[in-house]
Amino acid sequence: METTLIILKPDAVQRGLMGRIIARFEDKGLQIVGAKLTKIPMSLAERHYEAHKTKGFYPGLVKFMTSSPVLVLAVRGNGAITIARNMMGATFGSKANPGTIRGDFGVSNSFNLIHGSDSPEAAARELALFFQPGEVLEWSRAGDAWVYDMSAGKPE
Ligand code: RTP
Ligand code: MG
Repeated sequence: METTLIILKPDAVQRGLMGRIIARFEDKGLQIVGAKLTKIPMSLAERHYEAHKTKGFYPGLVKFMTSSPVLVLAVRGNGAITIARNMMGATFGSKANPGTIRGDFGVSNSFNLIHGSDSPEAAARELALFFQPGEVLEWSRAGDAWVYDMSAGKPE
């Protein structure tokens, strides 16, 4: 099982879209294993997006991410990183396909609603930035037996 770091960005929280976005992940069969409503400190936003430090959009990105509360989620499932990225859609709301979160809920390129880790390495790094030990929970859902076919001993 993979765990990915999802952030519902300030625009998603301000526009009242948290419930509908979380519902998409739950409907898919992914499991919420961590959740935190928080206003990201500047230093944490800078570290989270440090790979983009040299880009022209970096100052505006950090300002946006710290401007208002976000909902930080740890989301688990078989292949959760790629599944969540596909559900998010292309980076820019103007380009994201219908059926994706960015494609269905926004038109802006910089106010693009959601962040998702883009690799297992990024997920491990980002989960450690936003969650303290013990804040990502191990728990079983009552319906898990019907989310994956476990007859071969692993989730299919
Ligand atoms: P994210 O990291 O937030 O999940 O988004 P992403 O992987 O789809 O896109 P990434 O290339 O990592 O860019 C991070 C965030 O920076 C803003 N951005 N602005 N104006 C621009 O050219 C530009 N490019 C990127 C977006 O808010 C993007 O989500
Ligand atoms: Mg990214």
